[in-house]
Amino acid sequence: MLSVERVIVMPPLLGCAYYPEHWPQERWAVDAALMRQAGLRVVRLAEFAWDRMEPQPGVYDFGWLEQAITTLSAAGLQIVLCTPTATPPPWLTHAHPEICRVTLDGTRVSPGARRQACASVPAYQEAALRITEQIAWHFGEHPAVIGWQIDNEFGVGETTRCYCDYCRQGFQDWLAERYGSLDALNAAWGTQFWGMTYRDWRHIPIPGITNEPQSPSMRLDYRRFSSDNWVRFQRQQIALLRQYAPGRWITHNLMIRHWSLNYWRLAQELDFVSYDNYPHGLSDPCEVALNLDLMWSLKRRSFWVMEQQPGPVNWHPQRPPVPPGQVRVWTHQAIAHGAEAVVYFRFRAGRFGQEQYHTGLLKWDATPDQGYREAQAAAADLARLPDLARPASRVGIVFDYDDLWSIELEPVQRDFRYWDLVLALYRVFWEANVPVDFLPRGCDPSGYDTLIVPAAILIHPGEVDAWREWVARGGRLIVTFRSGVRELSNIATDSPLPGGGLSDLLGVRVQDFCAVPAPGFTEWPEHRPGTQVQSVKGDHTLTYHLWAEALSPITAEPLYRYGDGLLAGQVAITRQRLGAGEAIYVGCWPVNFGELFHRQGWIAQKSSRLEQAQLLGGDGTLWRVTLNHSLQPVEGLAGLEVRYERLS
Ligand code: GAL
Repeated sequence: MLSVERVIVMPPLLGCAYYPEHWPQERWAVDAALMRQAGLRVVRLAEFAWDRMEPQPGVYDFGWLEQAITTLSAAGLQIVLCTPTATPPPWLTHAHPEICRVTLDGTRVSPGARRQACASVPAYQEAALRITEQIAWHFGEHPAVIGWQIDNEFGVGETTRCYCDYCRQGFQDWLAERYGSLDALNAAWGTQFWGMTYRDWRHIPIPGITNEPQSPSMRLDYRRFSSDNWVRFQRQQIALLRQYAPGRWITHNLMIRHWSLNYWRLAQELDFVSYDNYPHGLSDPCEVALNLDLMWSLKRRSFWVMEQQPGPVNWHPQRPPVPPGQVRVWTHQAIAHGAEAVVYFRFRAGRFGQEQYHTGLLKWDATPDQGYREAQAAAADLARLPDLARPASRVGIVFDYDDLWSIELEPVQRDFRYWDLVLALYRVFWEANVPVDFLPRGCDPSGYDTLIVPAAILIHPGEVDAWREWVARGGRLIVTFRSGVRELSNIATDSPLPGGGLSDLLGVRVQDFCAVPAPGFTEWPEHRPGTQVQSVKGDHTLTYHLWAEALSPITAEPLYRYGDGLLAGQVAITRQRLGAGEAIYVGCWPVNFGELFHRQGWIAQKSSRLEQAQLLGGDGTLWRVTLNHSLQPVEGLAGLEVRYERLS
């Protein structure tokens, strides 16, 4: 059954980011008219304009913003307003230099860019709350303001973690809250290693420059604390907006390939998440799709693309061109994955500042650029469609920031990256046009046919119970290597691997695990696990890399054995049948996961080289959207083209 929690019943919206503070007031009405001519309906304002709203401490000027909102809304545009806390004004950083973050090596960053502030510093917190209260009080009930974006891209430019004294104290307090007693912390971290038993909370260090690595438990907790610190910062602003802006939604714009913040937690108190879609920061349309699906999954509901790449971008080291038609296809890809609005960044290319080489919908000279024409084309496409929403999927992939961080801290094999593993597994489904949702750890997979669990390294006690019942009812569980290895505090489990009940559910034990050295590595050339696994039926072999585990089936049946190297003959992949379902353990990292999945019949062979998705119309219709990401025609669809078909 296709089902969805519908959010906003209107055709998908298009819009743009606009900076009235960058342009003479006479332009505002002209720009508003051009936006409307492009078919845009929303405009996002003010995320970097703290200096204009509060030119001196406690002196506020919202007149210009009021005027801009009046002009834009008179043209029929709806307003998304932002709290401006990403750019503390010069008077604030001058009066309180301690606001600026400290990097790992102890350097205090300079003001003059953005996101230089640390969320732990009282002077910043107080000033941020004051300006938030002021802007919320002024515009909270303004009829043109439909919703709020908090701040802008927490964490952009590696700014989530700070190493100042306020953070040290904040971390120590966070630890006291998490562990309750020093004895509990010492036990959880195993501080007896290298003589690190703590007898006072204030003695606990934060990450810094050391001659050898610091405790992986302390470092994982510091990642958690730093992420929670921004969640807390965001929560304070949410509380003010809820008070002053009743009935308006609240969101925050999340980023591509971003891992320093636990987005599950950041998303929790928002009405929906927004996402800044810059495909040129990603490898290909599949990775774009993964990010979009993750955004949908964070709240299991539609999201906004709050910034859409409109053409070439300044921050890319090569600034590749964007071919004609691409921006329109990116727009439709976002909608196909559950976006209900796509807001282009930015309306007009900036004539000053750090992003002059970033494209806008208009060029520097205010004439339309390629992106403008494509936004216009996308708006015309959407006008012909009903409101569309994304149905729930039958395949879930677990995605977890703590697992990612634990592996990032100790990859063991230098090239082992959690994100790459998730992407490799996701690609199997994307290529077959099978929609995927992401699920957090501890999830209940009811409603899904297949659950993929990539490298769930940390053990969540009790999690496996729900999985067992679901498998017995007919679910297919596929767990990979490096699962169930460590306790939540990032210390090794003392139960057989995979721990946390997985061994029993999967009917297998991991006897040994090996990193697989990269092909160019020449030392001790005979010390290699091998590169091939053979199906037990003997009908095919698969190549693996990066990681290999030697398995001892207990009740599971072997599906593959290692074919060469030191692991030759050992079991690599197993299946345990349980009730109406099955639980599979994949002990090595196949170079091509798709081959494994196709050979085992876990997924049908892909039927099209085009990306396709189904969407539900608010009028009860069912639609298929087909996207050609290539510049060449594929299966009768022109290069960089989109097709919507009504299926029922
Ligand atoms: C985003 C950011 C925008 C702008 C844009 C440039 O990350 O939110 O303010 O800098 O990148 O592509």
